[in-house]
Amino acid sequence: MQIQSDISLLPFNTFHIEASARYFAEVKTFDDIADLQAQAIFKENKKFILGGGSNMLLTKDFDGLVVKISIPGIELEREDLHHYYVKVNAGVVWHQFVLWCIERGYAGIENLSLIPGQAGAAPMQNIGAYGVELKDVCIGVEAINIHTGEQVTFSASDCEFGYRESVFKHRYKDEFIITRVHFRLNKVPRFNVSYGDIKATLDEMKVFDLNIKAVSDAVIKIRSSKLPDPAELGNAGSFFKNPTVSFEKCKELLDKNPLMPNYPQSTGDVKIPAGWLIEQCGWKGKRVGNTGSHARQALVLVNYGNATGHEVYQLAMDIKQSVMDKFGVEINPEVNLI
Ligand code: EPU
Repeated sequence: MQIQSDISLLPFNTFHIEASARYFAEVKTFDDIADLQAQAIFKENKKFILGGGSNMLLTKDFDGLVVKISIPGIELEREDLHHYYVKVNAGVVWHQFVLWCIERGYAGIENLSLIPGQAGAAPMQNIGAYGVELKDVCIGVEAINIHTGEQVTFSASDCEFGYRESVFKHRYKDEFIITRVHFRLNKVPRFNVSYGDIKATLDEMKVFDLNIKAVSDAVIKIRSSKLPDPAELGNAGSFFKNPTVSFEKCKELLDKNPLMPNYPQSTGDVKIPAGWLIEQCGWKGKRVGNTGSHARQALVLVNYGNATGHEVYQLAMDIKQSVMDKFGVEINPEVNLI
């Protein structure tokens, strides 16, 4: 297992931020992880586990060991009358996994098409889009304890999935390397096309006989039209999470802003789209130096070229402050700040 020194992380983060890692190792097998854990550099340095680098902002050089997870492999484990049980290794690109399932008619993740990143990172923040979240289909996560090397299997409930949240972002932060994710997918699709854009796009595509490939195609079409392609313009998807406010606070906001989109939650609280709040503060499409808020989706911050992580972070904090000043609502980053 080779460990490299002073490696640029620019090719490994979709924000295209220049920062370096003191040490860098890429693991391609489960044995590579064990090998790595036996080495002094692993034991003596802080570690950062890297997947697709699509949900992070590097604000400085990393003075430790970056472990890039590149373990391939998808396998159908078993099936029963209604379901396919599939396990996918952490290094598989998420969208490749979605396409693999669609080809075989395994339903349940078609709404999650084109989400950047790798399968191993998907449970970290319970990825979600268009009314579906990973937690709806994930039945378990295999991981290795970073400190002890012990292999652990988490059930879905152990993962404590929430909106862009899991136990791996909190209690077990920096404690585990996720190595494999288990899914239960459906033989008979349960289509979730209630999200306005999907219905309209399917109509536009003249799809009258719903199928998972068509839903995936519609999602790809919507995402490609709204969200900048990281290969062309550095970004990490939604920079902030959508905030939740109390019913009373929402009423107060609606009195002043009758057109504000709002989504009541089962808890009685109400989710407000951060993109709308940011747009109302005048940030949408605004460029500040090498960075800015995207013209088609204000929630996405972009790197126009040579932005530093600090520059993007500063813009994010200015946006956060202006949303607080105008609406009295706190918005918090969804991306991991490194
Ligand atoms: N909106 C605006 N201005 C904007 C952006 C959005 O007014 O610039 C309004 C829209 O008009 C709409 C509402 O906000 O009424 C919601 O917008 P959108 O459908 O684009 O979804 P979102 O809430 O901004 C979330 C996820 C996305 C996911 C989409 C679709 C979060 C933080 N983001 O965005 O996930 O693709 O829903 O399900 O929950 C990601 O996590 O990186 C990501 C892209």
